[in-house]
Amino acid sequence: MTFQEWMKTCLYQPELGYYRRGRPTVGRDGDFLTSPEVHPLFGAAVGHVAIELWRQLDGPATFRVAEVGPGTGSLAESMLRHIRAVAPRLAEAIQYTTVEPDDHAAQALDSRLRVIHRVNRVHSINQLSGCQHLVVANELLDALPVHRLQFIDGAWRELRVNHSTVDGFHDAVGAVSEPSLLEPLGEITPGEGQIVEVAPDRGAITTSLARCVDDRGLLLLFDYGYSRDRLYASWRRDGTLMTFRNHVPGDDPYAHPGEQDLTTHVDIDQAEAAAQASDLAPLPRLSQSEWLHQLGAAVLPGVAESVADTNTYLSARRASETLTDPAGLGRIAVMGFTKGAIKPLPGWMPS
Ligand SMILES: C[S@@+](CC[C@H](N)C(=O)[O-])C[C@H]1O[C@@H](n2cnc3c(N)ncnc32)[C@H](O)[C@@H]1O
Repeated sequence: MTFQEWMKTCLYQPELGYYRRGRPTVGRDGDFLTSPEVHPLFGAAVGHVAIELWRQLDGPATFRVAEVGPGTGSLAESMLRHIRAVAPRLAEAIQYTTVEPDDHAAQALDSRLRVIHRVNRVHSINQLSGCQHLVVANELLDALPVHRLQFIDGAWRELRVNHSTVDGFHDAVGAVSEPSLLEPLGEITPGEGQIVEVAPDRGAITTSLARCVDDRGLLLLFDYGYSRDRLYASWRRDGTLMTFRNHVPGDDPYAHPGEQDLTTHVDIDQAEAAAQASDLAPLPRLSQSEWLHQLGAAVLPGVAESVADTNTYLSARRASETLTDPAGLGRIAVMGFTKGAIKPLPGWMPS
């Protein structure tokens, strides 16, 4: 099978795949931390953007938000709590929909969010009804399956997955399964032996998300990634594939099938081109560190209020350092897309 099929099976095979077996994946009980799992500060920051967007639109009576791949619901919870505390009229107007294909995750999500807000749930993006004012996804794209290609003797070949009783599962070099996989590689100068990942699924899902965005709406994606020239730079010899298990990173995609996360970095140019194909224009590219600093995240209510209690204050401060750490979560790419009919939003202009 291609590596794409392997990764898809390991992550999404019903009942067996990493994201389909009903066990914790993100969060302290899982295998890796995402920004919403670090601290409610991240959700408050997204909520702050939602409030400003709603105000710019003159406070519509229904404000539709869709979150795709919501995980445990931490982003939804912290965002909705922040909005309720700061903009109660928006809390009344907000129609929050999660897009979660997995039934195990969806049940846990429903019981967590039920006490906070009436949240709708659909299984797939094409079930979203009506145009959304805000579509948000955190670390969705980097969890989608990729093809792995290797440059050997001056030509691209595809890494497939083979099995033998002696070696178990291992890489096997074969012909490129689909010529279009080479399209993103047209401009790069690869090094001999270099491995890259390409993910047509990411372009397709970004286009689908972009189609759901209202004329005066915002698509907001957070993901580890680089521009194409940096992602496919020849010094990045082995690509960006990583595994996570019990909060320990690794590099063997054949260890613990279905029991470890597999992830690769995103091609930001691909995401932008896909959004542009649905008439959305990219906002300036920012790192999460730049975005949170410009947004003034450290002074958001919730963090500022925690001054009353030293422990809470210190934990919020530590979290804000973690979320903006340029060597960690702070280097996540913040990709915003609009149809250009809205004014600059917090995060994209100095606070
Ligand atoms: C790395 S996790 C991130 C979870 C959460 N957003 C967070 O930040 O904690 C990626 C999530 O994307 C979900 N996902 C993958 N493909 C999806 C799709 N087509 N539609 C909705 N969710 C999807 C996975 O099931 C998984 O829950």
